[in-house]
Amino acid sequence: MAGRTLENLRARYNTAAQDTPFGNNRGPGARMRGPGGRPGRGAQATGRPKDARGTIARVFSYLKRYKLRLVFVVICLLLNTGASMAGGYLLRPILNHIADFDISAAERVAYLLRMLIVLAAAYMTSVVAAFLQYRLMVEVSQGAVERIRRDLFAKLQKLPLKFFDGHSNGEIMSRFTNDVDNIGMMLDNSMVAMISGSVTLIGMLTMMLITNIWLTLITVVFIPLFMRLTMGIMSRSRRYFKAQQAALGAVNGYIEETVAGQKVVKVFGREEICETEFGRLNDDLRQKQIGALFFGGIMGPIMGNTAKVSYSLTAGIGGLLCLFGGFDVGGLAIFVNYASQFARPINELSQQVNTVLSALAGAERVFQIMDESPEEPDKPTAVAPVIRGDVALEDVSFGYEPGKTILKHISLYAHPGQKIAFVGSTGAGKTTVTNLLSRFYDIESGRITIDGIEIHNIKRDVLRQNIAMVLQDTHLFTGTILENIRYGRLDATDEEVIQAAKTASAHGFIMRLADGYNTRIDGDGANLSQGQRQLLNIARAALSKAPILILDEATSSVDTRTERMIERGMDHLMADRTTFVIAHRLSTVRNANAIMVLENGEIIERGDHDDLLAQKGRYYELYTGKRELS
Ligand SMILES: Nc1ncnc2c1ncn2[C@@H]1O[C@H](COP(=O)(O)OP(=O)(O)O)[C@@H](O)[C@H]1O
Ligand SMILES: [Mg+2]
Repeated sequence: MAGRTLENLRARYNTAAQDTPFGNNRGPGARMRGPGGRPGRGAQATGRPKDARGTIARVFSYLKRYKLRLVFVVICLLLNTGASMAGGYLLRPILNHIADFDISAAERVAYLLRMLIVLAAAYMTSVVAAFLQYRLMVEVSQGAVERIRRDLFAKLQKLPLKFFDGHSNGEIMSRFTNDVDNIGMMLDNSMVAMISGSVTLIGMLTMMLITNIWLTLITVVFIPLFMRLTMGIMSRSRRYFKAQQAALGAVNGYIEETVAGQKVVKVFGREEICETEFGRLNDDLRQKQIGALFFGGIMGPIMGNTAKVSYSLTAGIGGLLCLFGGFDVGGLAIFVNYASQFARPINELSQQVNTVLSALAGAERVFQIMDESPEEPDKPTAVAPVIRGDVALEDVSFGYEPGKTILKHISLYAHPGQKIAFVGSTGAGKTTVTNLLSRFYDIESGRITIDGIEIHNIKRDVLRQNIAMVLQDTHLFTGTILENIRYGRLDATDEEVIQAAKTASAHGFIMRLADGYNTRIDGDGANLSQGQRQLLNIARAALSKAPILILDEATSSVDTRTERMIERGMDHLMADRTTFVIAHRLSTVRNANAIMVLENGEIIERGDHDDLLAQKGRYYELYTGKRELS
């Protein structure tokens, strides 16, 4: 809702700002986007590139493969601009001929008809060239954008989890949407507009000089004035527009917050305070909006009228030149025509600069991700053993950020088929231990071995194939339930998938769904309950034949009855695997071979259930309810 309002305003602001004889986008090559296009991008500058030249070079490297087509684009562009300019110039002899009373009327009509055909040919050439140029350029730019998107996505797949810790999903998404989109926009629109703007400018200037030097001087003298005026109004309206966007964001944010928190507002009787606060924000928005819309709106009239002054001056002096200076009427007609359009390419160029700069800034952000260092490649000596599941940690210390140790001197071992449990408060480091096993992060000191081999000597994908995980935050992909479970092992048969679902106690609820195993899951399983999603994740792990299993609060979102059911299935699942289980409910970990009580990254107690109760330490307190897990 907020987004749409913003887009509307943006579109509105932009139409207002561009609806002038100077500030429009109607030059050859600079096409307006149709409905559903990208309105108002120009006003939406997002930063400045740090290394514009390098970034341009890198964007252009994506165009290399389209060299031939680009040559054609430039040819078409020159043809387009040249033909349309020639067409304009032809008016001169035509008008002069018509106004020449020494020639017979019949001859003049014949000439006119001949010239009309030439004119038609010129404009047809221009149209066809524009058509080809646009078609080719869109092909080129979208091809480049596709490759950029592909490279970016491929890179994301190779980045270590550390990268994702430091970048929110929204941020990464906006690289793919806004930034890549802006690059495309720059390639297929701004670039062409800039080239054609420059060509038009040079062409027009030449034509004007050829037509009349003195009149050209008058026009050129006016240009700086126009530029100052345009820039002044544009920068002011941009300032107001920015302020308006901020104010709009504040209003929308406040509405959203109040609506979402309506219960709390009512409970604490904050209605009136909310209204006052909203009134303040609303008033601020009104003021900013008046400024933005006003300056957006007066731009057109001011520019139009200033242009008319120069236009009239040129026409007046040109008229005098015709009468007394031997200047021809046809020359005057086309000159006035040029003069009235002259500021357009200049404005177009200055407008594109903003778009290009912000697109380059986006491109820089995209390339920055592409340049992130990927997960370290496997050592050449890395092996791919058949893993039984004998896991040992020896004096392992680790921190996510340098200088901030999370795990301190952790040592433990698990023989194949054993079940090791971790208990401890939130933030104690339980999940971190399991992250290290699958090398989501690499340790700083100590050793982690599987079957006696240090894990960084095992090929990473082999290591990960041998570890199945059920995490607290479940994740499902778009597709059917069957496909989602099969994610655990791609070559599993349907029967095996169903068996796995039965093991995870998921079969019952799946069968109650309308399409059973063929039910489609959309948007990360929004159509399922959190508990059901977790059951599917467990089924996925059950399907995998990995000898090592990690259950990180896997049953925290299901009710106690379901949990007991799953546990029965899980006993089955865990029977011949080395299992690391993290659970909030202590009943789940009772039968573990060893229970580690973690606190602040250290193992403060260890032993089986009976040992730990006998120790009468932290576990005892937790178990007997003298202390709560926080
Ligand atoms: N990706 C991460 N980056 C930085 N710090 C993290 C990250 N994940 C966890 N931590 C920190 O490490 C500590 C242990 O977290 P974690 O292992 O998730 O605890 P637990 O699973 O026992 O609740 C916490 O202080 C947490 O803030
Ligand atoms: Mg955790």
